[in-house]
Amino acid sequence: MTAAPRILERERSLRERYPRSRALHERARAVIPGGFHLSGRPLVDVDTTPMYFESGRGCRLVDVDGHEYCDFLMAFGAYLLGYAREEVDTAAFSQARRGTLLSLNHPLHVELVETLLPRFPGAEMAAFFKTGSEATTAALRIARAHTGRRVVARAGYHGWHDWCLPLERFVPAGLERQVLEFRASDPDSLRALFEQQPREIAAVILAPEMVLPSDPSVILELERITHAHGALLVMDEVKTGLRIRPGSVCERIGLVPDLITVSKALANGWALSLTAGSRRVMNAAAGMHYSATFHGDTASMAACLAAQQICAREDVCGHVERLGQRLIDGLNELASEQGVRAEAYAEPLPAMPFFRFSEPDPARNALLTKLFYREVLARGVLLHPRHLWFVSAAHTREDIERTLETCRAALRDALALLDG
Ligand SMILES: Cc1ncc(COP(=O)(O)O)c(C=O)c1O
Repeated sequence: MTAAPRILERERSLRERYPRSRALHERARAVIPGGFHLSGRPLVDVDTTPMYFESGRGCRLVDVDGHEYCDFLMAFGAYLLGYAREEVDTAAFSQARRGTLLSLNHPLHVELVETLLPRFPGAEMAAFFKTGSEATTAALRIARAHTGRRVVARAGYHGWHDWCLPLERFVPAGLERQVLEFRASDPDSLRALFEQQPREIAAVILAPEMVLPSDPSVILELERITHAHGALLVMDEVKTGLRIRPGSVCERIGLVPDLITVSKALANGWALSLTAGSRRVMNAAAGMHYSATFHGDTASMAACLAAQQICAREDVCGHVERLGQRLIDGLNELASEQGVRAEAYAEPLPAMPFFRFSEPDPARNALLTKLFYREVLARGVLLHPRHLWFVSAAHTREDIERTLETCRAALRDALALLDG
C-alpha cells in the first residue's frame, strides 16, 4: 500500500473516535462565526482530533467522547498549578458566595497588589485587569501619558486589540504610523526605528519569548537602546510572569523594566491580569480611564492569593523547569534515535518547551507534523502542533516519561504511515 491509502484508512478510524466532538462542531458552525473561538482552533483538524473537552483535574483533561489526555497546553498557560486545584478554587468559591463585585472597592484589591508587587523587579504600584490584552494596552497608555509621546514599538503578539494586530482592513487606518514593528532578536531593527523617529517613541514593548534563541544580552541591549532614547521599556511577561524561575524573566536576567504586564499564571485559571511599574511611571495612571465593570472581581483575586500561597511554599518554577528540560532532552533523543530531523527546545525557557520537525522536503515535513501530532493525541497526550507548551506543577516525572514513550510510539507510527 502507498502512503495515501494508508493515511486515509487511518483517518477513517480516527474520525470514529470523536463523534460527540464532531457533532458539537457541526452545531457550532451555525451559531459561532467560523465554528469556534480562535483559541479553540483545531489542533490538527476538526474530524480527526478532539475539539471539545468536558473536565480537567491536575494535568488531565477529558474530552466529550470520554478520552483522557495528559495536557501540555494547560489552557494556553492559564493553569500553572493544574486544573481544579482545590485550594485555589475553594478560595474563589467562598469569596464568590459573598459577592464577586461589590460595587466600589474591596479590601482584596489592596491585598492583591501588596502581595504581588514584591514579586516583580522595580514594581511599586500596579493596576489590575482581566486579560493580558488589557494589561498591555493599559501599559502603553500609561507610557504615553508619562512620556508625552504617542508612538510605540512592538515585536510580537501582545493581545487581540487593534494596536497589536497585523495591519488588515478591519484595523483603523493610521495605526501603522503609531505602532512600529521591530524584530525582537535584532537590536539594530529597534535602533533604526529610533533613528527614523527620534523623541517620538513613548515605549518599546517586548515579550521575552520573542527573543529566540533566548539570549539575555539581546534583551539587555534592547533595554539600553530604549532608555538611550528616553522611551520606556514594557516587559510583556503575560506568558512568563510567575512561571519562569525565580518569578519572571526580568528577575532572572537582572532587568528592572519601567512597566511589566503579567496574566496567565497569576490566578490558576481565574481571569486576572496586572500592569505594574515604578511609582514614578505608574503615577501617570492616576485618574486615567482604563477601568471596566468586571475589573474589581474578587473571586479571581481570592484565587490569585491562594495560588501565591502555594507558590510560596512549593518550588513550582523549579519543578516546571526541570520537567520541561527532561521533556526536551527526551524528545531530542527519540528524534535522533528514529533518524528524523526535528528539534525540541525551550521557548524561551524549559518550562515552555516546543518540538518542531525540520525535514528538508517541506511537503513531507508538513505531513509528518500532522501525522505525528494526530497519533500523539489519539494516544492520550495533548501537545499543540503550532503553539509552545506549558509544563505545570501538576505534571510529575512519571507523566513526562509516559509522554516520551507515547511520542516514541506516535513517531514510529507516523513514519510507518508515511514510508510503509
Ligand atoms: C506575551 C503575551 N501578551 C499578551 C497576550 C494577550 O493575553 P490575553 O489572551 O489574555 O488577552 C498574550 C496571550 O497569549 C501573550 O502571550
